[in-house]
Amino acid sequence: MIDIHVHILPATDDGAKDVSMSLEMAQAAVKSGVTHVCATPHFYSIPSWVEIKNRCKALQNQLKQAGIDLTIVPSSEIHSQPEIENLKPEEIPTYNDHGKHCLLEFPFRQIPIYASNVIFSLLVKGITPIIAHAERYSDVVNDPNLVLDWIDKGCLIQVNCGSLLGAFGENIRKTAYILLEHDMVHFLASDAHSNGTRFINLAEGREAALKTLSEQEVQALVVENPRKVINGLNVDVRDPKVYKPKKKRFWLF
Ligand SMILES: [Fe+2]
Repeated sequence: MIDIHVHILPATDDGAKDVSMSLEMAQAAVKSGVTHVCATPHFYSIPSWVEIKNRCKALQNQLKQAGIDLTIVPSSEIHSQPEIENLKPEEIPTYNDHGKHCLLEFPFRQIPIYASNVIFSLLVKGITPIIAHAERYSDVVNDPNLVLDWIDKGCLIQVNCGSLLGAFGENIRKTAYILLEHDMVHFLASDAHSNGTRFINLAEGREAALKTLSEQEVQALVVENPRKVINGLNVDVRDPKVYKPKKKRFWLF
């Protein structure tokens, strides 16, 4: 399996606090059946993309020295902010530096009004945004069909394994399953920030997704689609279905 969203770089963001934690996270990933981890530190233009790539190379060397057979793929979790529009294409962190896909996150409480502009500015540079943990945004919990608009624009959608297991509460768990059941998800990822218990690994997320999707469908989310992304290839998507919430019944007496 390939995990496209992990805060594994040491002392870079709110993820692994030092190299030993990075190595523990790497060992745990390998144990759960992961071959590639995409390092996605939060990106607010600092550290620069060049610096992130250098840190990925350093971690890869440390894994080699420790005898851990795991490939680190450079990337980032880009915080949606208007300044992103002004960056040159080569300054924008993309998976494996292919200039093809990036991971984009929004504030949880409200999708900002400039989100569409940021998405558009990436698309015109030939970069497909993958919307990080789409199920966790309050606006999506209130209206899961908001995700249809992102897919329609040309974005891809990532859901956290922990959301499927209720790590972020019942509303987010339900939303994650609604997105899965309506073909609105293209990737499952751990979004691990440590090797602690809060973060659910890809193997557990895979099992949870199998409750509602076929083996082949889940394989696309944890192996096939991620493999295309780290190789800079297009990801084929099925037409998503519109979510129709069940109408509440009111009893008159
Ligand atoms: Fe993240």
